[in-house]
Amino acid sequence: MESILKTENLWKVYRQGKVDVPALRGVSVDVPPGEFLSIMGPSGCGKSTLLHVIGGLASPTRGKVLLDGNDLSALSDAERTRLRRHKVGFVFQRFNLLPTLSARDNIALAQHIHGDGFDPHRFEVVTSMLGLAGRLTHKPSELSGGEQQRVAIARAIINEPKIVLADEPTGNLDSKSSDNVLAMLRQLNQDLGQTIVMITHNPDAAAVGHRVIHMRDGLVVDSAAAD
Ligand SMILES: Nc1ncnc2c1ncn2[C@@H]1O[C@H](COP(=O)(O)OP(=O)(O)O)[C@@H](O)[C@H]1O
Ligand SMILES: [Mg+2]
Repeated sequence: MESILKTENLWKVYRQGKVDVPALRGVSVDVPPGEFLSIMGPSGCGKSTLLHVIGGLASPTRGKVLLDGNDLSALSDAERTRLRRHKVGFVFQRFNLLPTLSARDNIALAQHIHGDGFDPHRFEVVTSMLGLAGRLTHKPSELSGGEQQRVAIARAIINEPKIVLADEPTGNLDSKSSDNVLAMLRQLNQDLGQTIVMITHNPDAAAVGHRVIHMRDGLVVDSAAAD
């Protein structure tokens, strides 16, 4: 079966003044449809950079990213943005919700940006699955951290992306909210077949996935089934 995501010998070198900082030094990963992949590794090893490059938020210095069969390096910035909106859902550690909008509008706005307009059925399915039905009129500041992250997850999946990329989604949550958010991600993966790539520092969180890859100094140093 074709991969949802495949990278070949991916390099990313940041230029800081006169110094080159290699954040990725030849990363090859392959994510089949329906996989829940966890990525672990020490701070600064290139995890976020990898997520940005595979999600089309940044371009690689060298190497290839195939996202649902599309070669990202062959696209213009505008085409890459369009592809990202259609195929990728992002979840961040700090939720990144718009503070002046209600939970409902934060989620619905993503549908409008996508270009297909508001789909009430999908909205209902996603928000009830994430237990948000009673919280939709609240602004982010009126929600707990766990609720805010569930809104962010709803926003990420509302347009049925091919892949969800989550960068330490439980990094800002207490352990109870963290368990709840991980259970939601697992449910999305199991019930909807949602392909997920999740960065985490926490081995227990990583074990929610099917497979864990470990990175160090811009390289994948280990890949093994989760226990
Ligand atoms: N925009 C940037 N400009 C310059 N250097 C960066 C930038 N983003 C990340 N880096 C550097 O690249 C390396 C990898 O960073 P990052 O991908 O954020 O690691 P991680 O998410 O694993 O903590 C680090 O040395 C970091 O300082
Ligand atoms: Mg990071």
